Amino acid sequence: CLYTFIDKLEAEHTLYASEWQQLLDGYTPRLAAYLFEKSRRARIQFYGHDVYIRGLIEFTNYCRNNCYYCGIRSGNTHVHRYRLTKEEILSCCETGYELGFRTFVLQGGEDPYYTTARLSDVVHTIRTTYPDCAITLSTGEATKEEYQQLFDAGANRFLLRHETYNTEHYQKLHPAQLSAAHRQQCLWDLKEIGYQVGTGFMVGSPWQTSEHLAEDLLFLKELNPQMVGIGPFIPHHDTPFAGQKAGTLELTLFLLGLIRLMLPGVLLPATTALGTIAENGRELGILSGANVVMPNLSPKRVRGDYLLYDNKISTDAEAAECRRELEQHMQSIGYQVVTARGDSLNITP
Ligand code: 5AD
Repeated sequence: CLYTFIDKLEAEHTLYASEWQQLLDGYTPRLAAYLFEKSRRARIQFYGHDVYIRGLIEFTNYCRNNCYYCGIRSGNTHVHRYRLTKEEILSCCETGYELGFRTFVLQGGEDPYYTTARLSDVVHTIRTTYPDCAITLSTGEATKEEYQQLFDAGANRFLLRHETYNTEHYQKLHPAQLSAAHRQQCLWDLKEIGYQVGTGFMVGSPWQTSEHLAEDLLFLKELNPQMVGIGPFIPHHDTPFAGQKAGTLELTLFLLGLIRLMLPGVLLPATTALGTIAENGRELGILSGANVVMPNLSPKRVRGDYLLYDNKISTDAEAAECRRELEQHMQSIGYQVVTARGDSLNITP
């Protein structure tokens, strides 16, 4: 019966909440293997054996928010705070461009120094210096006007995970000033402006149930984003969630497969968090349906300060090193890293 749900998902690209929940509750390795055969086929049908790469530039770890799970939350006084200058960010892009990156992801905490005006200036310079590249922002919540300004400056894509769709669950992960409704409104605003939008959630975050995950999947279907970033929750020792259990490799891979069948043309990264909970996590992610990896282009000296969770990988590798290693790992499983902007094929309205 659970197998027929997977068949239905493959044929119709959608399921009811109760069906999603039964699939998640009924996880077995055999069911997962059945899913991965189909999710891998869908992935290859849309993207072949190509793996898109994004150069991740973690340009500031200052953050005004105090999310209970995150290592760079404002309440963590043990973090050494840094922000890259415009020149430093551009120098990361230069290195990245030479290494074949055609998408730059500017990710940071919600840093009050990086106002929309300052960020727009950085974006505009990257846009004019690298007209053939996609610029992705991952800088948190803002007003529609602010998002519009950044879009006009030349940003094309925006990553903003919804974290969890369920209002009560959202409140257990975030301080009272933040809300699921506002988070979701930001995503609709971004979409309306014309950004290629990425959203997503943590797998196995504290108090998450299969019912919550079913709601997350239904929300993904409704939003129909170009990209979906999911990764396991991993505790950070200096947060209120220090003692909580991490999400599992198995459930993360299972969800990657399900999302690939639900939104076959979507961009699906094998995330750093996935590579952190298991040595070959990112390779397994690719084999479950993922088609993107996001190596770090941040300067080596700041790597150790952008720690959202414990034991984050490749905090002491040069960008070029990461790039080469990745190439080898992907080749070892029969996939190849490509130099392309890698736009989403999820273009159905
Ligand atoms: N474990 C896993 N992922 C985390 N993120 C933040 N903190 C953690 C953690 N402890 C994720 C959030 C955020 C993204 C940038 O990183 O989902 O949106």
